[in-house]
Amino acid sequence: MSETLSRRSFLKDTALASTEAFIAGVAPVAAAAAQTQATAPPERQPVALTLRVNGRAHALRLAPETTLAEALRGPLGLSGTKIACDRGACSACTVWLDGRPVCSCMLLALDAEGHEITTIEGLARGDALHPVQAAFIEHDALQCGFCTPGMVMSCAALLEQTPRPDAEQVKQALAGHLCRCGSYPHVLEAMLDLAGSPERRP
Ligand code: FES
Ligand code: FES
Repeated sequence: MSETLSRRSFLKDTALASTEAFIAGVAPVAAAAAQTQATAPPERQPVALTLRVNGRAHALRLAPETTLAEALRGPLGLSGTKIACDRGACSACTVWLDGRPVCSCMLLALDAEGHEITTIEGLARGDALHPVQAAFIEHDALQCGFCTPGMVMSCAALLEQTPRPDAEQVKQALAGHLCRCGSYPHVLEAMLDLAGSPERRP
């Protein structure tokens, strides 16, 4: 390395050149992003809608791509509904739509308008837990509890249709619910106990 180009000055010049190139590259990207936001097409602008949740109507303004799960947990503050996979693979986000269990991460909030939505917060009657909630507690049917609201919603929906389900029907109702803690045997026991089934484990 020559006397006129020392290692220190070489590194300094290189760093300066890199920084300038970085800034020159970033500035247009940031400007383009701002422009995109300002010129978002009408179909991406927030829209007004009303969701009926747990018996009450809620007027909202949401981006059209907002899922029902996001609407429940965000503006409506109903965080009992969990989002785990966010792609329809675990059922943690299960709520009722007109009494039927659905994955709320797979449903746009817009598509839930006009339907009756029930969340885990809507199951209890005041201080009185829903029988499924009470049975889960009695049978230690949860550990971390992240999958529990979704499982309770599916189990409660099953009881609405089939008050005395057998083991196969409970397993069918829970198909698609993933529990990384492995609470399935206790959930089954809770449900069979609730149903007064002779299949209850000793
Ligand atoms: S979070 Fe909706 S299915 Fe997993
Ligand atoms: S209790 Fe932890 S994931 Fe089911």
